[in-house]
Amino acid sequence: MCGIIGAVTGEKVNQILIDGLKKLEYRGYDSAGVTLLDGSGLELYKYAHLNQSIEKLSVMPQVNDSMAAIGLAHTRWATHGVPNDLNAHPHLDCSGKLAIVHNGIIENFRELKEMLKDSGHEFISNTDSEVIAHLIEENLSLIKSEGSGADEFLRAFSMTLKALLGTFAVAVISSEYPDTILVGKNMSPVVVGLGNMGNFISSDVSAILEHAEKFVYLQDLQIAAVTKSSLKIYDFDLSGIEFAATPVTWSYKDAQKAGYETFMLKEIHEEPYAFTETLLGRSTDKLELYFDEIHFDPHELADIRKIFLVGCGTSYHSAMVAKYAIEHWARIPVELDIASEFRYRDPVLDSTTLVVGITQSGETIDTLAALNFARKSRAKVLCVTNVVGSTVTNNVDAVMFTRAGPEISVAATKSYVAQLAVLLGFSIALGRFSGVLFKSEADRYFADLQNCASMMEIALGRETSYRKLAEKFKDTRDFFFIGRHMGYPTSLEAALKLKEISYLHAEGYPAGELKHGPIAVLDSNTTVIGIATKNKLYEKLLSNLEEVRSRNARVVVVANDSDNSVSNYFDDIFYVPDTFDLFSPVVDIIPLQFLAYELAVRHNNDVDKPRNLAKTVTVE
Ligand code: F6R
Repeated sequence: MCGIIGAVTGEKVNQILIDGLKKLEYRGYDSAGVTLLDGSGLELYKYAHLNQSIEKLSVMPQVNDSMAAIGLAHTRWATHGVPNDLNAHPHLDCSGKLAIVHNGIIENFRELKEMLKDSGHEFISNTDSEVIAHLIEENLSLIKSEGSGADEFLRAFSMTLKALLGTFAVAVISSEYPDTILVGKNMSPVVVGLGNMGNFISSDVSAILEHAEKFVYLQDLQIAAVTKSSLKIYDFDLSGIEFAATPVTWSYKDAQKAGYETFMLKEIHEEPYAFTETLLGRSTDKLELYFDEIHFDPHELADIRKIFLVGCGTSYHSAMVAKYAIEHWARIPVELDIASEFRYRDPVLDSTTLVVGITQSGETIDTLAALNFARKSRAKVLCVTNVVGSTVTNNVDAVMFTRAGPEISVAATKSYVAQLAVLLGFSIALGRFSGVLFKSEADRYFADLQNCASMMEIALGRETSYRKLAEKFKDTRDFFFIGRHMGYPTSLEAALKLKEISYLHAEGYPAGELKHGPIAVLDSNTTVIGIATKNKLYEKLLSNLEEVRSRNARVVVVANDSDNSVSNYFDDIFYVPDTFDLFSPVVDIIPLQFLAYELAVRHNNDVDKPRNLAKTVTVE
């Protein structure tokens, strides 16, 4: 996710903005920029030097010598448009009089861009964000032409925000209105800081913590008009809104984690947002809406006879979910491969095969090598990644981006659910494309998929009870996670999470396989966790759990809220909201992420940086 900072004070703001950018560095970024407004107009400096842009800005004489008392700055994590200087924020309008910074995704930017181009606006970037600057300019000139004077900047800004679909935090300054920052939001965070020397805005309180005494968190569909000595808050119809500013007692380190104990906990709580962002602008009827930057012509997919899904670790688990979904909805045969095995096993590939590489980082060497091999074998190659501009995007025929934002904790959490979002959405769209699903069916599935974000929110609201239940197993050293159908990938992912951060022994198994060997190791020291949410093999799973119980293993289940009978059989239950069975992995993993988390904390482990692990594995 991008980071935004703005400052309006009675003194120079250059250092405040550069320091603020440095404070946002921990989130990861691919480019950074700053705009400073003084008597001679807007100055704009921006760079896309991976992890060096802020350093570059901080030594620029033009930035250091600026006397500007108002300005905006931005760290970018690309979603639309590769990381380069032009795509970096801030973005200007045609006149160069106003500059915006944006965090989020503008779903309808293509339509807006076409409309603005028709009105004569010229665009210089490939971002969705640039439309915002031009649309404010367009609205401003409309309001001015009507001669309706007062509050024209504010009115043009609110008109603009009302026209945007998607998620956004947008801040704007203009040389025509040089003492005001306007900022508005929908879903992406904005905090306004009130200080003695002036006022500040940011997407992350850590960036402005040291300059402000009191803070106001802007709510969705609100606009703040900020000057050096005043703050006014409005709704998008410009009715004034009462607010209360409160102090924040966090340290800088706490503020980076938004008050959570660890990045992992923060990222688990960001899952619904990552999920929703990833589905924005995508639908069932247009397969092309799934491709970013590098596109297939969907017709190229008409000849596809087989799909291979490859990935490592958590990305492999989302591939498994996608296999079930694609075969079910699109009726195309899918093979699933661990990326490090794929190219060595002589897979049969040709131009009628599609190979999909799934990699959060876009840098995992085994996945890169698998996709290179697929390309050389003339297969069509698609990648799913969270990092725009990552190596994987250089050698593929098409790209689908997840929009989880930077994931700092080594253990993948929000990037996993974002992968599930795009892969499940793509599977439905593929079903429609291959003519297997009717439009009404596909639309219904897609709406249910989008609704999973609310189910995730409900599950996250149960954090305390999940962690309390997890505490019961603090002395257990051996865990088996078992599931069937969509419970199987969840059991693999839950076991991986537990191993990674708690260092306990955990296995994920398809429940039906247990009696073919592993059941021999079960005894009263083992805890078996059954993914018992409703799917077509629910009854069979319950029988498998009975087999387990008769070996004296302790049994715990993940079950749906509507399951009235499960409490007759089991004492320890992680309840989760009901979902359509193919979507259940999205929600069912949440209590199990908390289980892994709680046990890691109980064992005093470094949750964000588990031993022996790296976030990105770049060696074979
Ligand atoms: C699990 C985890 C790893 C990664 C794996 C692949 O929490 O983080 O298993 O999923 O190393 O990484 P990417 O997706 O970056 O290719």
